[in-house]
Amino acid sequence: MGIRLEESADWSSVYAIYSAAFGQSAEADLVRHMHQDGDLILSLIAYGDEPVGHIAYSRLVLHETGSIRAAVLAPLAVAPSFQKQGIGAALVRDGLKRLTDRGYDLVLVLGEPHYYGRFGFDPNLAEKLQTPYDGPYLQALALSPRGTGAHGPASYARAFAELK
Ligand SMILES: CC(C)(COP(=O)(O)OP(=O)(O)OC[C@H]1O[C@@H](n2cnc3c(N)ncnc32)[C@H](O)[C@@H]1OP(=O)(O)O)[C@@H](O)C(=O)NCCC(=O)NCCS
Repeated sequence: MGIRLEESADWSSVYAIYSAAFGQSAEADLVRHMHQDGDLILSLIAYGDEPVGHIAYSRLVLHETGSIRAAVLAPLAVAPSFQKQGIGAALVRDGLKRLTDRGYDLVLVLGEPHYYGRFGFDPNLAEKLQTPYDGPYLQALALSPRGTGAHGPASYARAFAELK
């Protein structure tokens, strides 16, 4: 199993992975729209003989602490027959490392604290931000000491508004 950058030839696989994992294609549409809008920071494929998992990280604008570089982790999926083998965790960790290497300070995710807590995501850190997704499932991870200083209103990529 390897992880690499997603390429345009992967689109049908990305749709197949999200459709199988979520039973709908809205999350794959989200990735495509963020790509079209230039909001995608990182798009990764986990692959064996073929693509089996995908993760995206997109731009997050912090209005009061604009010098802090922030990203949103979403969406993430692993094809059902390949779940619970550590592939989702490998995609998260690989992405976090790449973002750290690129100088990002903060990552935000909306998801199960039981799952994302293992990577260090913390609802308390996210509480200082104001987003359309505030609540116990919104968690943040500081990739640098600067990241812990993030606060105030934050804007997701435009395509997220279409998911509601
Ligand atoms: C969530 C998902 C990406 C995890 O990928 P994975 O490769 O199966 O995960 P890993 O093997 O790294 O980790 C397995 C752990 O995730 C947990 N897990 C799997 N799906 C989960 C879910 N939907 N919610 C919470 N925990 C979940 C498993 O119970 C297991 O927990 P454990 O380690 O305490 O036993 C994958 O299960 C998936 O695509 N699910 C459907 C789509 C989805 O819900 N995406 C999440 C978007 S926030």
